[in-house]
Amino acid sequence: MYSLKGKTLFITGAAGGIGAAVAREAYGRGANLILTDITQESVDTLANEFDASRVLPLALDVTDFEATQGVISKGVETFGHVDICFANAGISWRGDPATVFSCDPDEFRRIVDVDLFGVFYSVKACLPEIVRNSGFIMVTSSVYAFTNGMANAPYATSKAAVEQMTRSLRCELAGTGATAGVLYPGWVSTPIAKVAFGGHALATQMINTAFPAFMRQPISPEALAAKAVKGMEKRAFATLAPGFWSLFSWFRGPYAKLSDLVLGSNKKLHRLTRELEALNRK
Ligand SMILES: NC(=O)c1ccc[n+]([C@@H]2O[C@H](COP(=O)([O-])OP(=O)(O)OC[C@H]3O[C@@H](n4cnc5c(N)ncnc54)[C@H](O)[C@@H]3O)[C@@H](O)[C@H]2O)c1
Repeated sequence: MYSLKGKTLFITGAAGGIGAAVAREAYGRGANLILTDITQESVDTLANEFDASRVLPLALDVTDFEATQGVISKGVETFGHVDICFANAGISWRGDPATVFSCDPDEFRRIVDVDLFGVFYSVKACLPEIVRNSGFIMVTSSVYAFTNGMANAPYATSKAAVEQMTRSLRCELAGTGATAGVLYPGWVSTPIAKVAFGGHALATQMINTAFPAFMRQPISPEALAAKAVKGMEKRAFATLAPGFWSLFSWFRGPYAKLSDLVLGSNKKLHRLTRELEALNRK
């Protein structure tokens, strides 16, 4: 077991549902926290829950590599070391979901900038410290790394890409004492998932049509955080929650074929997809 006690944990997207829940769980296990998110106010609010000597709240846009390096330097100045990186910040569509055909290319790029390059920058900026301290990097991917991402392509593309990055990294780090792993949440009740749960009528209908009820049942950020922090303590390669997703991950080949077939042949989904594209054109 890799104890979190006295370790310094750098979190991106810390003010969000999963980031804040992981911060609370890890703090409870003795970690010092570098809390980062887009606004200083959001991380200050979270930091108020903790002992000031064990927390460093800083504004950070993860698409800015130099700023991310600056945050890690401040973390080292404050705590002496940074041991764990939780590269977690992520976004989805700003407005209506869209298809590859109907989306705005700038919006596709904006999502990939945060969900792929933002994760890469966070990991890259942390690596000197993580290697120096034989630490751990956990990257938040998603079950969308291996689930068909219809009407969510830039997100699913990025989540699959960060999984691949982390697999490469884990083998590249072998022998250094440091390592890396992937967190694959299913649906978690946080702002980013609202679109699928009534926040957008068409997207909700599409999700309800595409996935059986047991798959889209959201879990709480706290339940996810408990699993994520256990994954950090084990320095696990893969942490999936809810647990049934492990089965789908193990059987990715047949799951991918079956899901592509089911989604591609569902007439109601065809109709909803055309409606979504018509909405995008307006
Ligand atoms: N909620 C889910 O169902 C679910 C499922 C799978 C994966 N995830 C992933 O979990 C991670 C956390 O999401 P969440 O569910 O807590 O959503 P959330 O929207 O509550 O939190 C995301 C946080 O990231 C921050 N953020 C956005 N852009 C940023 C940027 N450029 N720089 C720094 N911070 C930025 C936001 O301000 C927000 O606080 C994301 O990577 C998301 O893709 C979520």
